[in-house]
Amino acid sequence: MPNFLRIIAHIRPYSTYAGMNVFFNVLTILFSLVSLTMIIPFLRILFDIQKLVLDKPNFSFSVEWLTNYFNYTLSQLMLQYGKIEALLLVCLLVIVVFFLKNFFRYAAVFMMAVIRNGVVKDIRNQLFNRILHLPIAYFTEQRKGDMMTRVTNDVQEIEWSIMSVLEALVRDPITIITYLAALFFISPKLTLFVLFVLPITGGIIGKIGKTLKKQSHQAQTQLGILLSIIDETLSGLRIIKGFNAQQMQQQKFVQSNQKHFQIMKNMLRRRDLSAPLSEFLSICVVATVLYVGGRMVLTHSIELEAETFIYFMVIFSQILSPAKSFSKAFYNIQKGMASVERVYQIIDTPDNIHLPAKPLTIKDFTREIEFKNVQFAYGNQPVLHNINFTLKKGETIALVGASGAGKSTIADLIPRFYDVNNGSILLDGNNIQQYHLEDLRQLMGIVTQEAILFNDSIFNNITVGIERQVSDSEVVEAAKIANAHDFIMQLPEGYQSLIGDRGCKLSGGERQRLTIARAVLKNPPILILDEATSSLDSVSEKLVQEALFKLMQNRTSIIIAHRLSTIQFADKILVLNKGKIVEGGTHETLMAKKDGHYRKLVQLQEMQG
Ligand SMILES: Nc1ncnc2c1ncn2[C@@H]1O[C@H](COP(=O)(O)OP(=O)(O)OP(=O)(O)O)[C@@H](O)[C@H]1O
Ligand SMILES: [Mg+2]
Repeated sequence: MPNFLRIIAHIRPYSTYAGMNVFFNVLTILFSLVSLTMIIPFLRILFDIQKLVLDKPNFSFSVEWLTNYFNYTLSQLMLQYGKIEALLLVCLLVIVVFFLKNFFRYAAVFMMAVIRNGVVKDIRNQLFNRILHLPIAYFTEQRKGDMMTRVTNDVQEIEWSIMSVLEALVRDPITIITYLAALFFISPKLTLFVLFVLPITGGIIGKIGKTLKKQSHQAQTQLGILLSIIDETLSGLRIIKGFNAQQMQQQKFVQSNQKHFQIMKNMLRRRDLSAPLSEFLSICVVATVLYVGGRMVLTHSIELEAETFIYFMVIFSQILSPAKSFSKAFYNIQKGMASVERVYQIIDTPDNIHLPAKPLTIKDFTREIEFKNVQFAYGNQPVLHNINFTLKKGETIALVGASGAGKSTIADLIPRFYDVNNGSILLDGNNIQQYHLEDLRQLMGIVTQEAILFNDSIFNNITVGIERQVSDSEVVEAAKIANAHDFIMQLPEGYQSLIGDRGCKLSGGERQRLTIARAVLKNPPILILDEATSSLDSVSEKLVQEALFKLMQNRTSIIIAHRLSTIQFADKILVLNKGKIVEGGTHETLMAKKDGHYRKLVQLQEMQG
């Protein structure tokens, strides 16, 4: 599973913490081993079950020597201090050992907290960065809720199911190996038998984990759908209420939620099966080992004293818990891998925006923009056919035509929100695809058809994306030009007023004037205005129009407008029909054509008043 290794690779920046975690885990394991085997021999001596050992045993690498040496030390202790004091001493020792064991255990998870959350933080940053840089076309194909689920829930799921068990993946094998070594030390023969039964149990538990990944995938997708519905509902509340669509929206949500419920229910049931099943299986193993080992002891077929056998069983029973948690870790990882895949799907999406190996830098626009045989389609849907025109520096071109003719699409091609399918767009003689994307976009100020605003102050909305320090007076100046200053000053907190989600606290026209102020402040050589004045009343439109007119004087502009009276001054008017340019010229030349498209459009609008 290469994706799993990629997740693991995220730990690299935290390798110091990881190293310390392993170190503290090893200490914890050693101390638990000591704490386990310490008490029984002492109690035996204390209550006279075991005779005092008075002679220091000769060293040999065996269980006998170890127990004898331990008993010898205990005996010495007792002779020196008396029984009660020795008991006290041992009790204190137990406390100290357990304190250390738990101290190291905490130290290990203390380190782990940084790794777990650090990795999650890094992945989330990477994901968000990716979302910012993916081409716009990518998102028209995606559900917003699904994207949000991936950044929030899926990443969290990685923390819960993978990072939380990473430690187990390191700790449990060490524990198991250490304990197995201790067992082997006590009785090699019996240990070999254990080694034979243990993997069988592990295998059975591992089997259930398989189906979990698929279900988890479904659950996250379903959650994404849920989030999309919530998002749509929140942003469309007015329409939903106005059209009495509550019932419908409710149904949509309930159905989706029910599906999510089904998947989660099945997943939980399967996951919860693992604990009882593994406990039952492990007790079967214990019973088997107890029977086989006990028989060996009783029939003296191995040299194992009854007592040592008890140690063996005690330590063996301790192996089962890490073995269980190890198999559970495996199980959890299966579940988390679904989220890992969903996250990497985004991270691995290639940039469809093609950039040359050595992009050209461009700081200023000097000559012209030229569309050469440009063709474009959204997916399989052709939208622009054979578009040719040249926009000279300082000129203003107006795009007019019926709704859906492709005007906004042309505007979107210039800052490369989409790339042409055929033909090329040249800027100062070079294909725009050869420039640095940032450089290219730096040259343009864009006012889109829908005002795009952020839930922030007016000031920050106007200064979006401007890296240099902007003074208040500059912002006020821009707002004045956009005819926005007056309404801003009427707000209780002026330029610091918050405007709500997507600017919901402002009127449509006010929103539009803010986006114009933003373009004015950026002061770019090229202006792209898509229906920039469409939501204004005729008085404000006139004012803004004048302002824009001033702004456009020493600039190169593309303006799109339905109201033809606003674009008559343009140096060139291009009439678009079904993705083709059907006419081009100044207002006067176009009006002079008897059966011209433009003339008809103008006459139609004049009739409507
Ligand atoms: N993201 C998209 N995916 C698929 N098709 C799209 C997309 N955006 C626009 N279209 C289609 O492309 C065509 C041109 O759309 P475009 O927005 O350029 O029209 P327009 O001339 O700006 O219209 P309007 O005057 O209404 O703004 C339309 O038929 C529209 O359905
Ligand atoms: Mg449009």
